[in-house]
Amino acid sequence: MEAGTPGGISVQDEAVDKSNFKKCNQIAFYRRQKLLRPGKSLYRVLLDSVTLSDENVKFQIIHEGNKVLLQVEIYEIEGNIFRLKIDEASPLRPRYKVPDVLIKEPTTQRLLISHKEAGILVLSSVNEDYKLRVTANPFQVELQSKGETVMSVNSNGLLYFEHLQPPPSDRYTQNEEAASDSSKEKQEDLGLWQEKFGSFLDIKAHGPTSVGMDFSLHGYDHVYGIPQHTETLLLKNTSDGDAYRLYNLDIFGHKIHEKIGIYGSVPLLLAHKPNRTSGIFWLNSSETLVDISTKAVHTPSRSAAETAKQRAVPLTDVRWMSESGIIDVFLLMGPTAFDIFKQFAQLTGTQALPPLFSLGYHQCRWNYEDEQDVKAVDAGFDAHDIPYDVIWLDIEHTDGKRYFTWDKKKFQNPRKMQEHLRKRKRKLVVIVDPHIKVDPSYILYAQAKEKGYFVKDRNGQDFEGICWPGSSCYPDFTNPDVRKWYADQFAFKTYKGSTNILFVWNDMNEPSVFKGAELTMQKDAVHYNNWEHREVHNLYGFYQQMATAEGLIRRSSGKERPFVLTRSFFAGSQKYGAVWTGDNTAEWSYLKISIPMLLTINMAGISFCGADVGGFIGDPEPELLVRWYQAGAYQPFFRGHSNMESKRREPWLFGEKNTQIIRKAITERYVLLPYLYTLFYRAHTAAEPLCLCFSPGNALLVHPVTEKEAKTVTVLFPGSEEVRMYMNLWEPFCLGFVFLQIPVFQRGGTVIPLKTSAGKSTEWMIDISYELHVALDAEACAIGELYVDDGHSFQYLHKKQFLYRKFTFHKNILSSSLVRLKILQIDTNIKEIVRKSTAYLRDKKDKSGDLQVCNTWSVYIF
Ligand code: NOJ
Repeated sequence: MEAGTPGGISVQDEAVDKSNFKKCNQIAFYRRQKLLRPGKSLYRVLLDSVTLSDENVKFQIIHEGNKVLLQVEIYEIEGNIFRLKIDEASPLRPRYKVPDVLIKEPTTQRLLISHKEAGILVLSSVNEDYKLRVTANPFQVELQSKGETVMSVNSNGLLYFEHLQPPPSDRYTQNEEAASDSSKEKQEDLGLWQEKFGSFLDIKAHGPTSVGMDFSLHGYDHVYGIPQHTETLLLKNTSDGDAYRLYNLDIFGHKIHEKIGIYGSVPLLLAHKPNRTSGIFWLNSSETLVDISTKAVHTPSRSAAETAKQRAVPLTDVRWMSESGIIDVFLLMGPTAFDIFKQFAQLTGTQALPPLFSLGYHQCRWNYEDEQDVKAVDAGFDAHDIPYDVIWLDIEHTDGKRYFTWDKKKFQNPRKMQEHLRKRKRKLVVIVDPHIKVDPSYILYAQAKEKGYFVKDRNGQDFEGICWPGSSCYPDFTNPDVRKWYADQFAFKTYKGSTNILFVWNDMNEPSVFKGAELTMQKDAVHYNNWEHREVHNLYGFYQQMATAEGLIRRSSGKERPFVLTRSFFAGSQKYGAVWTGDNTAEWSYLKISIPMLLTINMAGISFCGADVGGFIGDPEPELLVRWYQAGAYQPFFRGHSNMESKRREPWLFGEKNTQIIRKAITERYVLLPYLYTLFYRAHTAAEPLCLCFSPGNALLVHPVTEKEAKTVTVLFPGSEEVRMYMNLWEPFCLGFVFLQIPVFQRGGTVIPLKTSAGKSTEWMIDISYELHVALDAEACAIGELYVDDGHSFQYLHKKQFLYRKFTFHKNILSSSLVRLKILQIDTNIKEIVRKSTAYLRDKKDKSGDLQVCNTWSVYIF
């Protein structure tokens, strides 16, 4: 097969073949759920069944049509979170409940029943700030905060729950001959027991299992989140088209402004209105669709003088629909956006603190050919005086796409190559995809086969699909034993030719299956504990990254922080490393869309994210490349990457002028690293998202330029008074050339820590002094922080080996004090692995003596 695209077609000719992917109306459970229109819900609460315990309030609801009983559980969780769980009261077999995403069983608080009569049940939170008003007929829940209705559940009557049924013996799946043609057609249309898509047939062993529910967000018309889509930051109304889809897919050459899911999913939606932000976290790992509709509702005016008048208040309806599992939804009550980020992190964990090197610049390409190529590119950075930290090897470095091996001709001595890089204080990242080549002589394959570690097809055989190596099997990462085995593969003695400067890139882990339905795994494939792939699909990449990160921690006996980049992700992936936005294209529109895409991923808890600088597919014109570097320099994960068929793109290949601009962008990134690292520490400990691409922390406002030949830019400063600023983006450059720049503003009242200059890589910069940029506010004051540790180990965690200082500039005096921060719980899983480690102390020189004060409080431009 020709490399370059899933189908083996030349990438340059490739436009995404839309017929490979489903539109919403080709998804059977969506069609079924859409038959239920907004109206009175058929579910009624059985008030006699209400029970109250320390943990929760439970009751049953009955469907007036089919008389099926559902069990509802309502929990109040510490920190302004409510959880609503709905499952069948007595299911035929247990339904899938997403494991491993919540970092622990949330700590609940006892709810009080403050009212129960006349078909209404009112539950109060301990502090009485919140009330849940449960209406019995029809079943609805209204969530109020101090008398204000924030959210209502099932108010449009769209609670939908397909209960498990035995396959009826006369169903045509069982006895095709017996079914009449019209019943066949109807069944096919509803896709209850099987569903066709093109030549693919999905056999549903357990029949229809989908669930859904609606939420009304009162007073809200701004909703965000639910990555990953190539869409705007503000989520759009879906009434006239496809719903937002959360289904991890490998869509090569994906288009922009589409609602189809790509690569990763986080089912977290945020709603914002003046004075309040709320969140809905729909914990379900099966295919999920989200419909959004915003409207204005007219409510009587509250003012006595205007009693006759009505005022228009916005209302956003959000309808979640999932193919299987249970309804398990967390209502995050904020009230601020930062509270929502903390509440989500309290449930799913915070961003892992990356090793410092991984915040430097990464140079990637499919492929750096061989050892000579790697050394030449590495030397090129020094020759052109451009800092960089990591060089990457794509799939061609392996022996026939057998991961954990090396192509013996091109990489004859990988250890020596790594020693060469180590001396130059640089790192290596290699790709490790999940698919394993079917080859009995390949040890990984042979072992996994023997241990029964592969995902199975519906007939109990190892599921085989096509990926880069040809016929491949897929480890079942949902099985903890498989994860342990996989993690062990990273041990230095097992992974021949690897050293401790080698880190890992997990790609194709949606999982990508070239000839599979929608280029992924059949939904009727079977995982650990007999769960079908349909239940766990969106978790596959999450689990691979988890196993890989654990492998890297273990190979260092728990001492060193891992770095793992993943393409596929789910809620909680932030605990295991970084993500990137996949195969973007070298066009201006993709640079532009990368910004809302990254902000959305940030809002969903994953701070460490980036987009391929330059665009992966095609060849960027130099101006686009330069602008992309300038934007990427302020994004959390900063990697240049290009496709196999793209021209070489190392930063010095576009003439002196462009080399100089790129050098400046990368150098600025390195100078800013103390600030960036401090922001990461805050993301790690306090769940503050980096949102680096537009407003890194709260101190910088970056205005990336995403238009060709932009000469000026209008910057709109947020705040009570809007200030517009026109800036010239071109500067005279020797002999009439122009020098492109982008505006970066420092907020008045902030102090940001920098290095006084950049070095060849982060490791070369240890002894470079720090500098503080102080931008005063109207009262001539400023505050800021600096976090420093050894940059690579876990000593900050269990030996508290770090320096964390707060700077205050007041009355012309700069003073510094210790920062006391309430640290959120860090993932227990990782902590456990780390705890097993032997102690390792690295004497860290306190850098505070090196601080130099530099009073810069003007806007500055890069
Ligand atoms: C697809 C990834 O998205 C891309 O970054 C990578 O270069 C290719 N796979 C080849 O491994």
